[in-house]
Amino acid sequence: MENNRRDFLKLAGMAGIGLAGAGIIPSYALGAEGTPEQVGETPRVQHFNMSGYSAPKLDKVRIGFIGTGNRGSAAVVRMSKVGGVEIKAIGDLRAEKANAVKKRLEGSGQDPQLYTANSEEWKKICERGDIDLIYIATPWVLHTPMAVYAMNHGKHVCVEVPAATTVEECWQLVETSERTRKHCMMLENCCYDFFELLTLNMARQGFFGEIIHAEGAYIHDLLEGDFSKDKYYDQWRLKMDASRKGNLYPTHGLGPVCQVMDINRGDKMDFLVSVSSNDFMMNEKAKMLAATDDHYKQFVGKPFNGNMNTTTIRTNKGKTIMVQHDVTSPRPYSRIHLVSGTKGTAQKYPLPARISNSHTGWFSEEEFKALEEKYAPPIIKKVGELAKQVGGHGGMDFLMDWRTIDCLRNGLPLDQDVYDAALWSSVFPLSEKSVNNRSNSVDVPDFTAGSWKTNKPVDISMSKGGTTEVKLK
Ligand SMILES: NC(=O)c1ccc[n+]([C@@H]2O[C@H](COP(=O)([O-])OP(=O)(O)OC[C@H]3O[C@@H](n4cnc5c(N)ncnc54)[C@H](O)[C@@H]3O)[C@@H](O)[C@H]2O)c1
Repeated sequence: MENNRRDFLKLAGMAGIGLAGAGIIPSYALGAEGTPEQVGETPRVQHFNMSGYSAPKLDKVRIGFIGTGNRGSAAVVRMSKVGGVEIKAIGDLRAEKANAVKKRLEGSGQDPQLYTANSEEWKKICERGDIDLIYIATPWVLHTPMAVYAMNHGKHVCVEVPAATTVEECWQLVETSERTRKHCMMLENCCYDFFELLTLNMARQGFFGEIIHAEGAYIHDLLEGDFSKDKYYDQWRLKMDASRKGNLYPTHGLGPVCQVMDINRGDKMDFLVSVSSNDFMMNEKAKMLAATDDHYKQFVGKPFNGNMNTTTIRTNKGKTIMVQHDVTSPRPYSRIHLVSGTKGTAQKYPLPARISNSHTGWFSEEEFKALEEKYAPPIIKKVGELAKQVGGHGGMDFLMDWRTIDCLRNGLPLDQDVYDAALWSSVFPLSEKSVNNRSNSVDVPDFTAGSWKTNKPVDISMSKGGTTEVKLK
């Protein structure tokens, strides 16, 4: 039960370390053995329920971005196309990255100040009095320290996936968001992909009946990019793969199915078991590269994560979720996104996506289109086509950004709260714990402190809001 209990003194100490250490913790330093555990016997007390929380309306949303590599730079450009957004600051320790994205903003009317002097300059962005939202797209291990610092300085936070890499960090996010009453939204963009939104709306309308089981995944061959010297800053991703175990990136698969199953909002994860294969590829790749390039010798013999991880979660209501992780095998991209209920089923991958309500087969293309039309959620009807034009993984990234800003401007709860960020991210360290313990079951903490029983499901109806303009020019 240790994951459901906390030691507040330890937590306070860790928060201090998190702030002081932000920007200097090597991303590969928190290996399995170093993963902080929950200790002590103090039951969790919720300070304030952030689920369904509406912050005061913001007419303009003034944003400071931290991290403008592959992902952050695209986010800056997308946000410049959302009405009511002012891009006030951009921070990246690589000045060339910040400069490049500032150049891409030319003609947009946005003129952000750049913060590029060193690895701690991002704090100055969080400390400014004229910023409402900090948008974080840095290496994983910096996410929680940056998010906590930003909330402690009165800012809402949007943070890339995963929001945290240890259970302790998950608690820090929850604790800080509740105490400061600042939103901490993890940028789980897959919740905004078109088929995922469709199935969420279908679930709400009862198409699937009672949902019994769901599956998700992150199956994406990143082997070349991981070993590249310049794809990721300081090869942070390879260093994580070489030091951590389990499902390192569970949130793309989990987010959409958790929304469909009302996890944290009517049901909750109870426990999980996680199994990993050995690594058959990464060490071989390191050896091959090291034969001609000494740089790669540091990776040879490292405890690489197994190529395939499979984690199964059981919920309090007796439902199951399976989520997989494989970032090395040469196989087509898949997030699976299977929803299986008493009355119907949907499965996105392998593409094309399909829907069925019987054992005899999937609906025809024509029938699929009719269902798509019938169950298209309001957000797709309103900005789906515009989002496709702006782009970002086919439009889902823009749907997420637009919706988030629209909620902040209309004083609406965000679709993803700090409990979702903590829970979906926690499957990373919890799966690691199970893998390191012969796949024994691990309890999943209740980050909501019992409020999952009464928290309202994500609002797919868009009954309020929808007033924010999309600026295509
Ligand atoms: N949701 C998605 O679909 C999606 C897609 C890609 C990446 N991501 C996430 O986005 C994040 C960034 O990934 P990426 O591919 O852009 O990596 P990246 O290495 O290209 O970018 C990270 C940036 O952070 C900067 N940085 C590092 N330390 C810093 C510090 N102390 N202060 C300021 N800047 C600092 C680096 O210079 C770099 O430009 C990761 O968390 C990743 O998982 C999400």
